[in-house]
Amino acid sequence: MQFVLDKLTETVSFIRSKTTIKPKVGVILGSGLGAFVNEVQVEAKLAFQDIPHFNPPTVDGHQGNLLFGKVENQSVAILQGRNHYYEGHTMENVVFPTRTLALLGIEILVLTNSAGGFGETMQAGDLMIVEDHINLMGINPLMGPNIKELGPRFPDMTEAYDRKLIAQMEAILQKHETRYHKGVYCGVSGPTYETPAEVRYLKMIGGKAVGMSTVPEAIAANHLGLRVAALSCITNLAAGFSRQKLSHTEVTDTAKKVEQKFTQFLKEFIVNIE
Ligand code: HPA
Repeated sequence: MQFVLDKLTETVSFIRSKTTIKPKVGVILGSGLGAFVNEVQVEAKLAFQDIPHFNPPTVDGHQGNLLFGKVENQSVAILQGRNHYYEGHTMENVVFPTRTLALLGIEILVLTNSAGGFGETMQAGDLMIVEDHINLMGINPLMGPNIKELGPRFPDMTEAYDRKLIAQMEAILQKHETRYHKGVYCGVSGPTYETPAEVRYLKMIGGKAVGMSTVPEAIAANHLGLRVAALSCITNLAAGFSRQKLSHTEVTDTAKKVEQKFTQFLKEFIVNIE
């Protein structure tokens, strides 16, 4: 069995052989939110299947590309698509791309996702700034021997989502009078959507949105000492909060409708990160 660090070294040297760009900001694009790449002056595009130790995504609405380039003057690395735990990937594989970006030198990781919302006044199509999370996946990507080259055994998670980045996101959303919320994202394993009773429980413990991603990457990124920002697209009201049953089509349809607003916001945010 090959160790994670050896795999990362192989992956990073492969990528370095394809591009000399030194990204400062890493971005992970969630379901149906891939259009942001149209705002990027792409300098290199690598398909996940061509990158050693990366796994192609198996979910509709997720492409699997790693792009390097610039958004105005900001150099970025973008993961267009991600691996989810529910696909059967190990947690090591779920966070492998995040660790790769960190070793390529990013300082900031911007995570995006689609989520079901259950905060007061939430509507499908709203955005939510993730202020904190609750890990309900039943597993933590840092379980197992600590890799000290990547970070400490017991990483602090007091400010898992960078306060300054939260304030910057909020300022932009307010300026454009975009509907948004701030709240706690509950990370679950999926792939089933929640039962109404589960959503009532998530509300009781302080959540406002629920989704099947983001938490593992945020944990790995905090371990690596990155500054993290996360933004949820509330694609649907969570189970029991609307009359409709949930479907992946509803999720991707709403994400598509919101994509332009989401993309413009993301662009302004990323360009202005110092
Ligand atoms: N639950 C979990 N994950 C999701 C949802 C949801 O309602 N919508 C989009 N991703």
